Amino acid sequence: MKIETLAVHVGRRTDPATGAVTPPIHLSTTFERAADGEYPLGFSYAREGNPTRGSLEECLAALEGGKEAVAFSSGLAVASALLQGLEPGDHIIAPDDVYFGLRQVIGGVFAKWPLETSYVDMTNLVGVKEAVRPNTRLVLIETPSNPLLKITDLSAVAQVAREANAISVCDGTFTTPVLQRPLDLGVDMVWQSTTKYIGGHSDMTGGALITRHENYLFERVRKFQMFGGAVPSPFDCWLALRGISTLPWRMRAHCENALVVADFLQQHPAVERVHYPGLPDHPGHEVASRQMSGGGGMLSFQVRGGREAAMRVAARVQLFTRATSLGGPHSLIEHRASIEGPGTRTPQNLLRASIGLENSDDLIDDLEQALPPEGKG
Ligand SMILES: Cc1ncc(COP(=O)(O)O)c(C=O)c1O
Repeated sequence: MKIETLAVHVGRRTDPATGAVTPPIHLSTTFERAADGEYPLGFSYAREGNPTRGSLEECLAALEGGKEAVAFSSGLAVASALLQGLEPGDHIIAPDDVYFGLRQVIGGVFAKWPLETSYVDMTNLVGVKEAVRPNTRLVLIETPSNPLLKITDLSAVAQVAREANAISVCDGTFTTPVLQRPLDLGVDMVWQSTTKYIGGHSDMTGGALITRHENYLFERVRKFQMFGGAVPSPFDCWLALRGISTLPWRMRAHCENALVVADFLQQHPAVERVHYPGLPDHPGHEVASRQMSGGGGMLSFQVRGGREAAMRVAARVQLFTRATSLGGPHSLIEHRASIEGPGTRTPQNLLRASIGLENSDDLIDDLEQALPPEGKG
């Protein structure tokens, strides 16, 4: 079946007790044991397993073309669970512009572990190969990257990880399985912040890890889900599932709008550079065309005149909302360097935009009035 159909049906059944077509939210924290002491329906206690969470996990695994999925209370809870699965002294390779929060988890939360980490430019395959050490256990990939939208060749980096006997894991948050399926390209696992496009309405927080095959790291993450405790609420699982029903169609609209906005920005005299992999002159466009079915809804652009000029543009928007995050119906804009704070590698004149589901004419009108017409100001 195709992804639009899977997105509507997998993990949902008409409720046998009531005939309800929309699945119920199972709030019960505990489940009845049979007289023989068994749990014939497979559920005993909510942290260990919950039917609504089970439905979401089944659906996400199907969408990614994976074997199994485990859902968490946030995207970063997934990352923490993954890193907890490593041994002290293990080495990680990660993109040099990896999502800022993940850098905080690796360098902050896990500072005492400790883990060795090499941050490399993953668009340079030679650099990735050179970063491999005898103790490399995990290769983290993010493509398109956040916030520079750099494109990594998924098959090639997965191959480097395989040869190094390391596990490759791709952050699929920007693309969702609708635009890119890393597991089909040989990547071992995908993690998602379901808070973003999957939930799709900026009203829930969640995360998930989906695996292509059995491996020790996935098993450790599963154990961590059970005993670490960072499980998603049934309501958040239900909201994520509801979001998934429309995900393929929403992603198309996000891509369509983002391409129109990227084209407009590229021609504007106040814009120094646009980062959007759907544009033919993006350095990763050729690889992106092979592994993505659309350019996505995220773009960033650098404003002529530096940080202050970028801040002025962000201050003048009226339809775009100045807010962090992404993947909801509203278009959002943010000055990324100031969100990331001291130590950021993001250019000071860069604004990141999550292009929403409004009409693209209105988005362009808003940017037009926010950008200085002569290219300065
Ligand atoms: C690309 C990417 N991955 C992961 C995360 C983390 O997800 P969460 O906020 O659900 O923990 C984010 C959050 O902004 C993100 O942008």
